[in-house]
Amino acid sequence: MSDPNTDELREQIQAEIPAAPDGKALEELRIRFLGKKGVLADLVSRIAQVPPEERKAFGKTANDLKALAGELLDARAGQLEAQRRAEALSTSKVDVRLPGRRHTLGTAHPITQVRDEILSAFNRMGFLTVDGPEIETDYYNFEALNIPPEHPARDGQDSFYLAPGTLLRTQTSTVQIRVMEQVKPPLAIVSAGRVFRRDTLDATHAFMFHQIEGLLVAEQVSFAHLKGILLKVGRDLFGAGAALRFAPDFFPFTEPSCQLCVNFPLADGRSRWLEVLGAGLVNPVVLKGVGIDPEKYSGLAFGMGVERIAMCRWGIQDIRLFTENDKRFLDQF
Ligand code: PHE
Repeated sequence: MSDPNTDELREQIQAEIPAAPDGKALEELRIRFLGKKGVLADLVSRIAQVPPEERKAFGKTANDLKALAGELLDARAGQLEAQRRAEALSTSKVDVRLPGRRHTLGTAHPITQVRDEILSAFNRMGFLTVDGPEIETDYYNFEALNIPPEHPARDGQDSFYLAPGTLLRTQTSTVQIRVMEQVKPPLAIVSAGRVFRRDTLDATHAFMFHQIEGLLVAEQVSFAHLKGILLKVGRDLFGAGAALRFAPDFFPFTEPSCQLCVNFPLADGRSRWLEVLGAGLVNPVVLKGVGIDPEKYSGLAFGMGVERIAMCRWGIQDIRLFTENDKRFLDQF
C-alpha cells in the first residue's frame, strides 16, 4: 500500500529533475530532495509515526524514492554537461578536427653519424681519439707543417684571420704537431673537428666543414701501411665493392703524398671521382721540427673530408644541405 504523499513525491521527482534547465537549478533540486533537511530526509524521519505494520513498506518506499532521485539527478547532470560541451565546441574558435602537433624524436646529424663511425673504425685499429683547438696560430696551421709564409700551398687554404698570426684552422693537421710535441712514438691518433676556409660556396665546397685527421708514427711505417689502413676503412664505409682510387698529390707535410677518391654517382646517371681525403708519409722535415728522429721513426698521416664522405655514401648532391637545417633532409638519416 502506498501513501498518497509518497505518490505525489514520486511524480515531483520524475517531472522536475529531468526538466531542470541548468546546473544551478539541478543543484537546488538536489538540496530540496536529498539534502540533510530535504524532503526525503523529512520522510525518513517520519517513520516513527507510521503504524508498526506499515513501517517496513514505508521504509522501502522512502529508500526507493531516494535512489530514484539520485539516479535522475546524475542522469540530468550528464545531459547538461554534454549539452555544455556541444555548445562550447560549436562556438569555440579552435578547430578540434585539426591533427595535433606531433613530438618527434631527433636523430644524430648525418655528419655526426659518419664522423662517429669513422672514429670508431680507427679506434678499433688502436688509434686514440684526441681533440684540438679551432683557433690556431700560424705556427701550427702552416709553419710547423712545412708551409712557410710565402709558400704557394697557403693560397688554396686562405683563412679567416682573427689577428695577425691567429686564425681559424684550415685543416686538422694542426693536431699532428700538437700531439707529436707531447707524445713520443709509437703513437696513433685520430682527431675530428671543424675547419674553415675562405672558399666560395658551391655544391662541393663550404667555408666550414669537418675533417678527420689521422697520424701514426712508429718504426718502419711504410706507404703499404697507409694504403692498407685507408682501403680497409674505405671499404668499411662504402662497401666491399666500392670503386676507390689512389692518385698522386702534393702536401708540404707529407712525402710522398696521395689522395683517395671515391666514385660518386651524379643525378644524371654519370659519375665523377670525388676526392675524400689527402694522405702521405709524414715529411721527415716535420718530424725533425718536433724533435722526432726521422732516421729511427717514420709516420703516415691522412685528413678526410667528412661532408664529402657522407655525400658519397648517401648520394647527397649538395654540401649546403648539411647546414641548411631542413627537417625534410635531416629526417632521412
Ligand atoms: N690537411 C690536408 C688538407 O686539408 C689533408 C692531409 C692530411 C694530407 C694529412 C696529408 C696528410 O687537405
